[in-house]
Amino acid sequence: MTYYIATDHAGFAIKSFVVTYLQTQGHTVVDLGPANDERVDYPDFAQKCTKSVLEDKGSFGILICGTGIGISIAANKIKGIRAALCHDAYTASMSRAHNDANILCFGERVVGKGVIESILDAFSTTSFEGGRHANRVAKIEGCSLGVID
Ligand code: RB5
Repeated sequence: MTYYIATDHAGFAIKSFVVTYLQTQGHTVVDLGPANDERVDYPDFAQKCTKSVLEDKGSFGILICGTGIGISIAANKIKGIRAALCHDAYTASMSRAHNDANILCFGERVVGKGVIESILDAFSTTSFEGGRHANRVAKIEGCSLGVID
C-alpha cells in the first residue's frame, strides 16, 4: 500500500516511528511533513495529505496531531475523504471494514507505540466489506453537500 503521512508539531515526534514501521511491513510511505517540530497549523497538513490521497487512487493517508481530533476534523471537510480517528486495533479495523476510511488519524498524546503498531496492522490488513455499508458510505458524500434525505 502507499501511505501519505503528515502531522502537526504535536504529532511530529512519532512520525519517524510510524514511517519506519510501515516500511518494514512492505508499504511505500511518502512523508509530507512537517520537517521539524516548530509550531504549525494542523489544517495545512491535513490539506496536503487529503490532496495526495485523492490524486493517487487507491492510496491511503495517515494524519497525526496531539489528539488526532483537529486534524481528522480538517481532513473530513474535503469531499471524498473519510478520515477515521482511531484509538485501538478495533476502531482501525472497523474504519476500513464499515466506513471504507481512506485516512487513518490518531493522537500522539493519546496512544503509545505498541497500540500504534496494532492500529497500523489492523488498518492495513482490513478491507472494506461493501454490501450494506456501501450505500451508507455513498450517503456520506451527500452529507458534505448538505442533501441528506
Ligand atoms: C496542538 O497543541 C494541538 O492542539 C493539536 O495537535 C491537536 O491535538 C488538535 O486537535
